[in-house]
Amino acid sequence: MPYKARNIPTFLVTGSNGQIGFELRRSLAPLGNVIAVDRAACDLSRPDALRQLIRLYRPDVIVNPAAYTAVDKAETDADTAFAVNGTAVGVLAEEAKALGSLLVHYSTDYVFDGRKQGAYVETDAVNPLSVYGRSKLAGEQAIEASGAQALVLRTCWVAGAHGRNFAKTMLKLGRERDSLRVIADQFGAPTTAGLIADVTAHIVARHWLGDGGATFAAGIYHLSAAGITDWHAYASEVLRYAASLGIALKTDPGAIVPIPASEYPLPAPRPANSRLDTSKLRETFDIHLPDWQQGIHYLLDQILS
Ligand SMILES: NC(=O)c1ccc[n+]([C@@H]2O[C@H](COP(=O)([O-])OP(=O)(O)OC[C@H]3O[C@@H](n4cnc5c(N)ncnc54)[C@H](OP(=O)(O)O)[C@@H]3O)[C@@H](O)[C@H]2O)c1
Repeated sequence: MPYKARNIPTFLVTGSNGQIGFELRRSLAPLGNVIAVDRAACDLSRPDALRQLIRLYRPDVIVNPAAYTAVDKAETDADTAFAVNGTAVGVLAEEAKALGSLLVHYSTDYVFDGRKQGAYVETDAVNPLSVYGRSKLAGEQAIEASGAQALVLRTCWVAGAHGRNFAKTMLKLGRERDSLRVIADQFGAPTTAGLIADVTAHIVARHWLGDGGATFAAGIYHLSAAGITDWHAYASEVLRYAASLGIALKTDPGAIVPIPASEYPLPAPRPANSRLDTSKLRETFDIHLPDWQQGIHYLLDQILS
């Protein structure tokens, strides 16, 4: 029988230099043509240019990890935050709908107020505390209103080898300072950008490309690593593991001082509970989510070796 080439799907990935965007360039590469665009090539605050770009490439899958993620700055820059996290996401969704393409979008635990006891499920009431959280919620709502086929992955406490994050900050401070004080009354699961990108690729490959989207279970899903910790315990684990790799530290990993969030005020309030229940994602898409320590150790091996 003659060899028949299959159609190779095209992915458009925004925010290609962000933590998740960087990893998507790797994880989506075996699935098709990846057109990864940074802010200079695709500025989400310019909706007309965004539409033109999508109409030019006609991607089978639009993947949108780009976002206005400066949580504190957003408090005084709401217009830009809403333009990028709300309006632009609506444009992506409308264009995806018109093309019959899949939109993959990332959202956040910050849509919740963090007052729930226990892990948040997808259907829990939203109540963002910050401008950033409200702007991300606007993006979710724009997708819903568009009727596009979309996978919205709400995640939390993201850390990647490429970009800025809490783990890297703790490593830097641990090398520079004799003592550290870190918040111990906010809870979540550190989740690597690599895991998020791999889960995205798995879902798209097995559940969208597999049967042309005919049975795709579109919707909002919670995605985080397994387990739960607080910032203080997370920082302690980062320094402990770094020390085990022979990294010279000034801070004793066992002597980081736990403090309440009230002693470290920031412009934007953060939810005290960022715990996400991932059952829906795991059961719908047949995904195993490793413990957060496994991902963070892998990340530290990448950064420090
Ligand atoms: N980081 C977290 O802890 C966290 C937690 C929950 C959810 N999320 C969500 O996960 C997604 C990815 O987060 P991340 O940690 O990968 O973010 P990130 O590292 O801050 O990357 C965001 C990317 O978006 C780009 N961007 C910002 N404004 C833009 C604009 N106007 N047009 C085009 N691109 C623009 C940035 O470009 P520049 O490189 O030029 O700045 C950056 O590359 C976001 O949707 C975020 O809301 C993140």
